[in-house]
Amino acid sequence: MDEGVQYSSAAAAGKAELIPASYFEPIDPAAIFARLAPLEVDLGCGNGAFLVALAAQFPERNFLGIERLIGRVRSACAKAARANLPNVRVLKVELSYAVKYLLPPTSVAVLHLLFPDPWPKQRHHRRRIVTADFLADLHRVLARDGRLRLATDQADYFETIRQLISTQPFAKVDDNAAERFPLTTFEKHFVAAGAPIYRLVLRKVS
Ligand SMILES: C[S@@+](CC[C@H](N)C(=O)[O-])C[C@H]1O[C@@H](n2cnc3c(N)ncnc32)[C@H](O)[C@@H]1O
Repeated sequence: MDEGVQYSSAAAAGKAELIPASYFEPIDPAAIFARLAPLEVDLGCGNGAFLVALAAQFPERNFLGIERLIGRVRSACAKAARANLPNVRVLKVELSYAVKYLLPPTSVAVLHLLFPDPWPKQRHHRRRIVTADFLADLHRVLARDGRLRLATDQADYFETIRQLISTQPFAKVDDNAAERFPLTTFEKHFVAAGAPIYRLVLRKVS
């Protein structure tokens, strides 16, 4: 079956969940969204509140949420359907697999990695998603001048990320405009609790 036809009928039916024809080949964003447009990816999109709000704000862009928990994927898809947004897809898969194998090189304009699971206990740090290898994969999928937006409430995780980033070809972008973005669900909790939030915006430089 022609993949473009398959994806566009899914869009017409208002189904935001993306079930790729193959999990062993990179996806084709233009076919999935039935148009060419800048792609933003929300890595660990949770219940999709941020993804859907941003997609409503920027209808001229395509938005892909990636999330491993089925309940959250369903919740994100339901929000996209209620808002009748044709520019949202949600993929249920493990993040590092998706970034390494499913997103094509230089295909993404903006990556959002917002409040990745913190794993605060020292003995659990090795479960954290951000590693040098993961950052290298993020760099590879970003288009030239593409942005990586990171946020966490964990000071030590942020410091580790900053150290890992310094070995990669990214430039820091001053982000004085965090309020232009909708708040994520976790961000709302942290803001309400008065917790510190550490942010970083990076630009791919080579
Ligand atoms: C702390 S929550 C933050 C959710 C959302 N970004 C927000 O700020 O509200 C982290 C999310 O990432 C998802 N997640 C964590 N590790 C993941 C992985 N390896 N692959 C896919 N999703 C993952 C979790 O299931 C969870 O929904």
